[in-house]
Amino acid sequence: MPTKRHGYNFPTRIEYGPGAAKDVAKTLAQSGLKKGLLVSDKGVEQAGLGDTVRGYFKAVGIELATFSDVKPNPVDDNVYDGAKAFKAAGAEFVLGLGGGSALDVAKAVKCMATHEGPLEKYDDMKDGSQYISNNMPPFYAIPTTAGTGSEVGRSSVITLKSTNKKTIIFSPYFMPNIAVLDPELTVTLPAKLTAATGVDAFVHNLEAYVADAYHPLADGIAKEAMVRAYHNLPIAVKDGKNLAARGEMLMASAMGATAFQKSLGINHSIAHGLGVYFDLHHGLANAAVLKEVMIYNMQEKSVAEKLAHLSMLLGGQRNAESFIELLSQWLTGVGMPTDLKSFNIPASMIPKLEAYALEDPCCSGNPRKVVPGDVADLLKKLI
Ligand SMILES: [Fe+2]
Repeated sequence: MPTKRHGYNFPTRIEYGPGAAKDVAKTLAQSGLKKGLLVSDKGVEQAGLGDTVRGYFKAVGIELATFSDVKPNPVDDNVYDGAKAFKAAGAEFVLGLGGGSALDVAKAVKCMATHEGPLEKYDDMKDGSQYISNNMPPFYAIPTTAGTGSEVGRSSVITLKSTNKKTIIFSPYFMPNIAVLDPELTVTLPAKLTAATGVDAFVHNLEAYVADAYHPLADGIAKEAMVRAYHNLPIAVKDGKNLAARGEMLMASAMGATAFQKSLGINHSIAHGLGVYFDLHHGLANAAVLKEVMIYNMQEKSVAEKLAHLSMLLGGQRNAESFIELLSQWLTGVGMPTDLKSFNIPASMIPKLEAYALEDPCCSGNPRKVVPGDVADLLKKLI
């Protein structure tokens, strides 16, 4: 039952269900922890979620200092300031509370708590993970959105202030000791953000599923998560206090980030460019291009077959066209766009957006080989 508490050990320890955050606070107190650093952001604090979680920990005798100066696109200074706050508080563990940004900063803060800077030394492109040792403080993650699945991921994406470029740090030691999926902490998320983040979770699963790599574990997880997201996102958008639907979306999000260790694809590559050049919300951008990208991808026979199977799982006919129809109705039903027409994207930006997409790391995982001109053609249809 989605409203009951459960415990899992894949991919890390997951504590799921209403009341999970309160229970984890008790468990940590029993293990002897006394002081922690809560890493959140302004939105999380304004929604009162910081107070709620500090209350849970205070009740069991754990003092939480708070660092909430995390930008929506976090920069390295946020990490250095967070590490200073960790040391100043004499904290023994890091508790991340928020969406992907807060959780990514929390991971980097725990790294900088015991490692020498600068952060870019640990960049994955420079094989930096070899310098990350497992002497970091314990880390617990509580997502307050159901989209990125950062709570089950081993990466942290931080923008370097000096170059304005993103550095991606991967380490198996970034995986939280416990990921806490507590739907009670997502009920205040506004409908629009619920929809956009929820579609992002769906796309993680969909791009992972249609990707060409051999990964039956990821495929199984992705298919199950899509069915759950398909049925529950409309409920969570309409009735934010529905704990069952909120819980299913948290689960679909964690499953998406577990599945996309297989791969993502050009839907994300195009969405990333739209985020960089037009500041479009990541989930919204993913939603807007999804229908056309899947029509493009289904020209590949293996994708058409998978989409036909998915359509059947979602209650449609066994063909890819039926899936596109269901997808389109679902996106519209949760108030998401199925094109870019309302975003005033000038045609003159198409070459830049295509160049960005082709260089994006997700592009190479796309099941249909993307050649120059393909993304431009897609964008022409979308704007
Ligand atoms: Fe995403």
